[in-house]
This record gives sequence, structure tokens and C-alpha cells, in this order.
Amino acid sequence: MLINCNQMDTTKFEVQVERMIHLSKVNPLLPETYIPWDDEPDSDTLFMPEKLVSLEGHKLWDTLSKSQQIELGRLEVVQVMYSYAWSETLACYFFNRHLLTLNPDSLEYRFLIREITEEFRHQEMFGMAIRKLGRKPILPTRLHRFFGEFTVKWLPSSMVFMSVLSVELMADIYAKHIRKDEKVFSVLRKSSELHHIEEGRHIFYTEAWLKKFTTNAGFLKATAYSMVVMLNIYFMRTLYVQKDFFERIKVGDPDCYYQEALKNYNIKFVEHALGPTVEFVRGFNGFNWLTKPLWIWLLNVKP
Ligand SMILES: [Fe+2]
Ligand SMILES: [Fe+2]
Repeated sequence: MLINCNQMDTTKFEVQVERMIHLSKVNPLLPETYIPWDDEPDSDTLFMPEKLVSLEGHKLWDTLSKSQQIELGRLEVVQVMYSYAWSETLACYFFNRHLLTLNPDSLEYRFLIREITEEFRHQEMFGMAIRKLGRKPILPTRLHRFFGEFTVKWLPSSMVFMSVLSVELMADIYAKHIRKDEKVFSVLRKSSELHHIEEGRHIFYTEAWLKKFTTNAGFLKATAYSMVVMLNIYFMRTLYVQKDFFERIKVGDPDCYYQEALKNYNIKFVEHALGPTVEFVRGFNGFNWLTKPLWIWLLNVKP
């Protein structure tokens, strides 16, 4: 019997997804037991790798005392975790919507059920970590809420999967930086390790799922997908750096510090958080004469 290449690829993909479903069932990573919740930070413990703190690298950074620098990292990591928890809640809303179109015995349904289970655990884990750090995040604005909810309720599945993937790629690279930095609080390093392991499976699946839309995508489709990714990243980035944090760490001119931190962070963000996303967009020819100038203008990305 002749088997063509597409069939072989499909079979290989199915075997890999079955393996991921199996792993998720037999080796669940439970935040309750995986993370050392009883550990306590000392006065030198960091909460975010310094390179990811908004103001680090700017000359104003050196005007902060060590404890102000640590506190800024603490406030910003709480904000990052809150943002991911919120975006995962939105993703789960969409996954439930998508499940209604599938058969419960299909591969896609069975994988998504595992993904939803893991994403709910992540949301709970982020909430536990935020409580452990004892700082209050800034909630999304009404505009953020509107766009977030509109996307998951009304956009076509391929577009929503695209936006879920763009946030996952970014969350994953943050997790990578946090878990590798030995100066960072153990609770956050282990949370990031757990997230990195499970997001690896989600990213693999979503990229493969999206291939049917992105392979041989024409100019219009590739442009639309590229814009979805770009706007999602911009959307998430606007949640991270907050003026309120500079008031809380009691600097002399919070507005000036905030404006400079924002500019500084926007440059660092490209270097530290966008590598895999740029590769993904390049993979479906998402950088063209129309989208390139927008990526440069909005995100400082020079593809
Ligand atoms: Fe997650
Ligand atoms: Fe995920």
C-alpha cells in the first residue's frame, strides 16, 4: 500500500499528541506539591531577573536603592503573573467555545481538555504566587477588557488560536528567564519551571494546528495573521509597566520615572521576549511591505 508524505506527517503528529495527552494524565504537575510554598525570601532575594525589570539598564536605575530595585521587580512580576492569568482565563473561554464544535472522542477535543485542565491549574498557581508575594496587581482597563473579550467571543478560531499562541510564546520566554536565574525567589522559579514544561506542549500543538492555515498562506492571510500577533503582543506589553509602581516605591517624580521606564522597557522587550515570536511570524511570511513598517512603528521589531 502506498502512503504519501502528508499521511505520514499526520500519523507522526497524532502519535506525538497522544503521547502529550498521556504525559499530562500520568505525570500531572500540581502547583500544590511542585512548588515550595513555605520558602521565604530574604532581603537580597530578587523576584524578577533584573534584565526584565522595566527601568534596569537606564541611568535612572542607579538612582534607586537596592530595596527599591527589588520592590519594583516584585511589583512588576506580580503584574506579569496577573496578566498571564487573565489571558489564560480568556483562552479557556475560547477553548470551551471551540469544544462545542468537536467530537469528544476526537484527538483535538481530548488534547484541548488536557490543555484547559492545565491552564486552570496555571491560573490558580499564578493567583497563589501573587498572594504569596503580597502585592496587588493593576487590573486591565475597560479597553483591554473590551478587546480581550471581543477576541475570544467573536473572532474565527484560527485568529484566536493565533492570539493564544502569541501570548504563550511570550509567557514561555519569561518563564525561561525566571527559572534560570538563581537569584530569583524559589517559588517563582518553580512556578516558571512548571509553566515552561506545560506550555511547551501547548505551543507544539497550537503551532501544528495552525499549520493548516499558515502553510501557503497568501499575502492577505499572512498579513492578517501577522497583525493579530503584533496587536496581541502590543496589548500584553501595555499591561506590564505601570505608573502606580513608581508611586509605590516612592521615587521623587513618579511620572518621569514611569515615562523613562516605559521607553527603556519597550527596547528591552524586543531583545528579551520576542525572539520565538518573530521566528514564528517569519515562518509564515508574515513580514511584508505592509506589515514590516507596522512592526517597527508599534513594537520596535526590525524583522
Ligand atoms: Fe499556561
Ligand atoms: Fe498554554
